[in-house]
Amino acid sequence: MKVLVVGNGGREHAIALKLLQSSQVKQVFCAPGNGGTATLTRCQNLPISVDDFKGIGQFCQDNNIDLVVVGPEIPLAMGITDYLQNLGIKVFGPTRAGAQIEASKAWAKALMAESGIPTAKAAVFTDAAAAKGYVNSGSIPIVIKADGLAAGKGVIVASTVEAAHRAIDSIFEGQFGSAGKFVLVEECLVGQEVSVLALTDGIVIRPLLPAQDHKRIGDGDTGDNTGGMGAYAPAPLVTPELMAKIEVEVLQSAIATLRKRNIDYRGVLYAGLMVSPEGKFKVLEFNCRFGDPETQAILPLLETPLEDLLLACVEKRLGEMPPIAWKSGAACCVVASASGYPGDYRKGEAISGIKSAEGLTNTYVFQAGTKQLNTQIVTDGGRVLGVTGIGENFAQAIARAYAGISGIHFEGMHYRRDIGYRVQK
Ligand code: AMP
Ligand code: GLY
Repeated sequence: MKVLVVGNGGREHAIALKLLQSSQVKQVFCAPGNGGTATLTRCQNLPISVDDFKGIGQFCQDNNIDLVVVGPEIPLAMGITDYLQNLGIKVFGPTRAGAQIEASKAWAKALMAESGIPTAKAAVFTDAAAAKGYVNSGSIPIVIKADGLAAGKGVIVASTVEAAHRAIDSIFEGQFGSAGKFVLVEECLVGQEVSVLALTDGIVIRPLLPAQDHKRIGDGDTGDNTGGMGAYAPAPLVTPELMAKIEVEVLQSAIATLRKRNIDYRGVLYAGLMVSPEGKFKVLEFNCRFGDPETQAILPLLETPLEDLLLACVEKRLGEMPPIAWKSGAACCVVASASGYPGDYRKGEAISGIKSAEGLTNTYVFQAGTKQLNTQIVTDGGRVLGVTGIGENFAQAIARAYAGISGIHFEGMHYRRDIGYRVQK
């Protein structure tokens, strides 16, 4: 089997590595990939960007690609799946219509309301005065969101009325481009966030191990929001009873409504949930793709061949698959970022120590913002790489991730020292 993975993050490196661990997978191509996928055996990077649908389609046809796996949300929201499906190519990832569940928060809210999915109370606005009026009549803190895709930056948790007004103005003034045509004003939820990712063929849902990530840049969950500074799985907060409820009340419910709308959703449905101290959950958002860095913690624990699951989704026979098999124990991924991230950061710093970290027991290095320059791996993005440790328990997994990352160096390297603090005991 030949698989093409679209994207260039740590998530895509983890997907490529998992696929290559199977003897059924002869070769993986990454468009465009990163320094990590460039150095994997039987893996080749292609100089094709994620939005070059024509280039990707042509490559697939010329090289008899059996399956395309789309990592990021942007090409999904732009309709890469529709484009490739029209060429007769098998694609894992929802169509443009399905990707709206992530690409428009207002659309997702309407779907949740129609499905009876528990979520934060919210109102949608097309002008600033009305949105501000709503804020004035509500309580603080309050959450202001740009409707569309904003690389995780379009959400402001405002702790004063003035901050909420400023956020509303900046979104309508175009800080997030066309993502800011609508503004959502949403009730602020408290509790712990969890990520429940599920595979689906549009009918059947198969949840993956629940995960938690650490969104803030600094230890103790302080500082700016990021794409994710670390993750672990399986999150003990999601007990089997809670998972069963989430599966029925959130995931199956969403798929049923998507079907009612004639949307044939095949790919990952990812629910970001807030679990209150009393154990009640509400959906914060849906994503239409694998999470990053959750995937780097989840996939190393997967025992069922990944390509079998992904193909079963695409071919609408997920219900025929045996239960997904997992390694026992736990996984933890710690992300290293470039100095300055999530603001401006430098690129091109030489990275050392990757090989020796990869040589440690049950330790994986997933590269993200890196590229290969001659024989040297250099930094090329904000989140540079992640190190995942797996072990019999969280203490061992976390210790392995930190043992791995402490041997890796580049100028300005930053990583949190407290990933997994909630489960360390
Ligand atoms: P979203 O892209 O909607 O998941 O929002 C990004 C982040 O903002 C979430 O992961 C939460 O940390 C935070 N957030 C979003 N909505 C809420 C809410 N209603 N209450 C509290 N925090 C929120
Ligand atoms: N880790 C959060 C996300 O992938 O959206």
